[in-house]
Amino acid sequence: MLSGVLVVSAPGKVILHGEHAVVHGKVALAVALNLRTFLRLQPHSNGKVTLNLPNIGTKQTWDVNSLQLLDTSFLEQDDAPAPTTEQVEKLKEVAGIPQNRAVPEHLAVLAFLYLYLSICRKQRALPSLDITVWSELPPGAGLGSSAAYSVCLAAALLTVCEDISNPLKDGDNISRWPKEDLELINQWAFCGERVIHGNPSGVDNAVSTWGGALRYQQGKISSLNRPPALQILLTNTKVPRSTKALVAGVRNRLIKFPEIVGPLLASIDAISRECERVLGEMAAAPALEQYLVLEELIDMNQCHLNALGVGHTSLDQLCRVAAAHGLHSKLTGAGGGGCGITLLRPDLERAEVEAAKQALTGCGFNCWETSIGAPGISIHLATSLHGPVCQALGGL
Ligand code: MEV
Repeated sequence: MLSGVLVVSAPGKVILHGEHAVVHGKVALAVALNLRTFLRLQPHSNGKVTLNLPNIGTKQTWDVNSLQLLDTSFLEQDDAPAPTTEQVEKLKEVAGIPQNRAVPEHLAVLAFLYLYLSICRKQRALPSLDITVWSELPPGAGLGSSAAYSVCLAAALLTVCEDISNPLKDGDNISRWPKEDLELINQWAFCGERVIHGNPSGVDNAVSTWGGALRYQQGKISSLNRPPALQILLTNTKVPRSTKALVAGVRNRLIKFPEIVGPLLASIDAISRECERVLGEMAAAPALEQYLVLEELIDMNQCHLNALGVGHTSLDQLCRVAAAHGLHSKLTGAGGGGCGITLLRPDLERAEVEAAKQALTGCGFNCWETSIGAPGISIHLATSLHGPVCQALGGL
């Protein structure tokens, strides 16, 4: 087992097109966001495992010996198995988490225990660890905060247990893992996501692991070739919602109205494919007409997402306010509140962008102007981090 401090970080994500449809086997296009989650892991010999999540005010410590005594044989399967509902229920019992409550801090603790007990069980003894996770991502806003959390946990636990090697070499401030290791990180992170979300598509953890811009369909991931550096406004309506409930709602609507909802999902699939084609053309020479096509695709998809039942009045307001400034927006992620994206064409005057941002902020929303396509899971030299990250992780 490794003995030094590890610091890893993983990005959040924005889905350009294909949310919800991707759960039903359709194509999604997703990009890594310039907002990250950071994890610091300190191995100890104090016989304790501590998980500290300052963003959600949770700190929990377990005695390694009592975890060691638990009957976790129900976890003993092949590498990165998909957690079953029975396993998750059993884990709740073991962790003393109420059966019928699914508050975010319980789910985060549960995902940690699942990954810790499953990944570390091959060690002679379960390791004593002190883990702090801190995020720049707002939770529950559709920006993949839970996936970034699971990806960080998977990467740090696999590294400390030496299932994958530490890629940070002398003199590096930051490094990334090779492809095979990223695949393993992604598989385990998907398990963490399943503990939290039930039946996610896997797109969020894939983007957080690989970074950049991805096409995702039924677990098949491919990077988009030289995607243009799109600028967007990312707006958080701050309306809370549950991804699990929204995904279940779409499934129910599909069961109830297969002839209506099936074609909507097929049309979203076609929008993702058309967007991918246009982004491919833009790699060579981006032109204003292509931005206009991207705007049309955004408008059509937003209507479809409303028809799937995952819209919200706050998102309607976001789209209306941006439209008053000539801008085109759609929800991103699960919808029902959460975040929306607004495309910024390169021909826009600075004053127009500022006016739109001000109008959105005036609605009580948080609004950031950002670029997309950040690097995936990375490992940092602990002493190279400064400012709020360093403070939040308890000083490095
Ligand atoms: C959530 O970010 C995206 C959804 O498509 C769910 C999923 O893909 O698991 C709504």
